[in-house]
Amino acid sequence: MTGGEIKHFLSINSLSIGAINSILDRAESFFPVGSKSAKKIPILRGKTIANLFFEPSTRTKTTFELAATRLSADVLNINIESSATKKGESLSDTLKTLASLRTDIFVVRHNQSGASAFIANLMGDQVSVINAGDGRHEHPTQALLDLFTIKRNKGSFTKLKIAIVGDILHSRVARSEIFALQRVGVKDIRVVGPRTLIPSNIECMGVKPFYNLEQGIEDSDVIITLRLQKERMRSALLPSASEYFETFGLTQAKLSYANPNVIVMHPGPINRGVEIDSAVADGANSRILEQAGNGIAIRMAIMAMLSGERI
Ligand code: NCD
Repeated sequence: MTGGEIKHFLSINSLSIGAINSILDRAESFFPVGSKSAKKIPILRGKTIANLFFEPSTRTKTTFELAATRLSADVLNINIESSATKKGESLSDTLKTLASLRTDIFVVRHNQSGASAFIANLMGDQVSVINAGDGRHEHPTQALLDLFTIKRNKGSFTKLKIAIVGDILHSRVARSEIFALQRVGVKDIRVVGPRTLIPSNIECMGVKPFYNLEQGIEDSDVIITLRLQKERMRSALLPSASEYFETFGLTQAKLSYANPNVIVMHPGPINRGVEIDSAVADGANSRILEQAGNGIAIRMAIMAMLSGERI
C-alpha cells in the first residue's frame, strides 16, 4: 500500500483488511526501535504532530507522543480546557491557528462522537486527523494495538474465541474492537456483562451476548476487560461497584473457566477490585502492560502511513 492514500484515520470501518495487515506489519518492523539505546528513526523528521486532547488520557496521549518523537517528529501538546458551549468557537480558532503553523497531523480525543470526523472535514487536505477516541463512537488506534497484541501472543486470529467483558454500552473501544476483530476473521466474539450495560440489539453486530461471566469466558483464548465508564452513564445502571465485582469482576477463580493459555487484556485505566482483581491484573495471563507499550509501535505505523510513507 502506498502511503498518502489515506488522509485521515477516523474509524476501523473505513479500513480494508489489506490496510489493517499493512499497519500490523509496519508496527512489527518498528517494534525493535523501542529496545535500542537511541530510540529514534528519521521517518517523520521535519513533521509536526499536535496532540489535541479534550478529554483526560494517560496511555493514549503518552504513546502518541512517544511514537511521534521516535519517528523524529516535533510534538505540540495542546492543553484545551473550555466549557462545552465555548468549545465550538475556541475549537475552530485553535485548529485554524495550528493549521496555519503548518502542523501535519492532529491527534484528536473528544467526548463527542463524530468530533474527529468534524475536524477532518474542516481541515480537508490541509492536515491529517487521527481519531484517538470520540465519545462512544470509536477508538480505532486502540483496536489496532489490541490486534497487534493478540497477534504477537497468539500468532493468528481466525480460530480464536474472544470475550469482551464489562461496560459495552458506553465503550468506543468495544465498538472498534468488534469491527477490527471481524475484519481480521475472528468468528467467535462474545460480549459479556449485565443487561443494563450491553446494547439490546448487539447481535446485529455479529457478536453473542452473555449475561453471566463464567459462561461468557468459557474456553476463551483472549479476554478483554473494560472499565465501567461512569462519566458516560446518565442514570444508575448498576447497584454498586462491589456487587459488580461479585458478578463480573475477573478473579483467578473465574479465569479457570477460560482456556489455560488465555491472555487477559485491558485498555486501561484499570479499576482494581471493580472489573478486575489485582491477582489477575498482575498475574501470569495478563498482557496489560505489554498492551499499553504496543501502542507506540502501532501509532508509529499509523502516523508513518498518513505522512506518505510507503507501508
Ligand atoms: C479507553 C478510552 O479512553 O476509551 N482507554 C484508553 O484509551 N486507554 C477506555 C476507557 O477509558 O475506559
